[in-house]
Amino acid sequence: MKKSRKLASPDPQALLAWYDRHRRRLPWRALPGRTSDPYAVWLSEIMLQQTTVTAVKPYYENFLTRWPTVEDLAKAPVADVMTAWAGLGYYARARNLHKCAGVVASGHAGMFPDTEEHLRKLPGIGPYTAAAVAAIAFDKKAVVVDGNVERVMARLFAITAPLPGSKETLRALAATLTPEQRAGDYAQGVMDLGATVCTPKSPACVICPWADVCEGRKLGIAETLPRKAKKVETPLRHGVAFWMVRADGCVALRRRPPKGLLGGMTEVPGTDWRAEKWTDVEAAEAAPLRAKWRALPGVINHTFTHFRLEVAVHTIDLTAAQARKLEPEIIWTPLARIGRAGLPSVMAKVARHALAAIT
Ligand code: ADE
Repeated sequence: MKKSRKLASPDPQALLAWYDRHRRRLPWRALPGRTSDPYAVWLSEIMLQQTTVTAVKPYYENFLTRWPTVEDLAKAPVADVMTAWAGLGYYARARNLHKCAGVVASGHAGMFPDTEEHLRKLPGIGPYTAAAVAAIAFDKKAVVVDGNVERVMARLFAITAPLPGSKETLRALAATLTPEQRAGDYAQGVMDLGATVCTPKSPACVICPWADVCEGRKLGIAETLPRKAKKVETPLRHGVAFWMVRADGCVALRRRPPKGLLGGMTEVPGTDWRAEKWTDVEAAEAAPLRAKWRALPGVINHTFTHFRLEVAVHTIDLTAAQARKLEPEIIWTPLARIGRAGLPSVMAKVARHALAAIT
């Protein structure tokens, strides 16, 4: 009888050896053999939950330059932190980041706790961040699982059950591989492997340190993993933004209420976001001024976690009397400085759309 070839189990040491040679040079990473600054690790990990390493770098560097320590960040006005975060998305994270800095600065004498359990008690620190900070900053044995790690585990062990149902299985497999020593390097190694070798499309299996033990590769299905359960279509909402420019070249912006989506962020005034499209008449009724609005051609599209948004932009050149009539909470912003107004991405799209149509 033909014996099926049994694969050896993946060796965490092979991954660590690969990491020692191929680790990415990242601004928040300590040099080999050095310990990392927990503040830098925490800040980078919170940012990395939003977007890619490339997108995070300039934000991270700006934060560290402006607020080199957790105490500096704690002392900063929350509005400044929100503005510096603008563009990264999910603004509740920025608010929690500031809150967490406050708790660490005043409740923990500026020192981050060094266990997952205690880290988890801080604002905005969930299971992922607690494990990442414990492992990377304090070299504690902690199982760090993000999307990269899930993909690597699904392929290594040929897990064909779809996400998100397979999350627990993938976590348990990740736990079996996490080593007692160098858990932080190991975690970063698996994440780097996922980002640079075991990529979602066209994985570079020939240069993978685990190629010879990868069940997914053996079965020829690695690239198709992890499978994902069919997503339900996210609902579509519609809004109209009102682009109002004063004769001196200032545009009317305002601050959103502190709670809720984009809480406390700067925005272009607009209608509610609702399921039905707005007619021009309805939009004119919902506008901050009775005026002869001009609907710009086209719309902007933006995807939030739970819905997609389509925004039309209506515009007027304000007379001095109209400008005075607007609510007192308007933030008049020179068009030349709109890039530094701290607009969240959806509002930056509105501004670009308006500027492209008008100039
Ligand atoms: N993605 C999120 N955190 C990371 C880290 N510390 N190293 C590599 N990739 C990451």
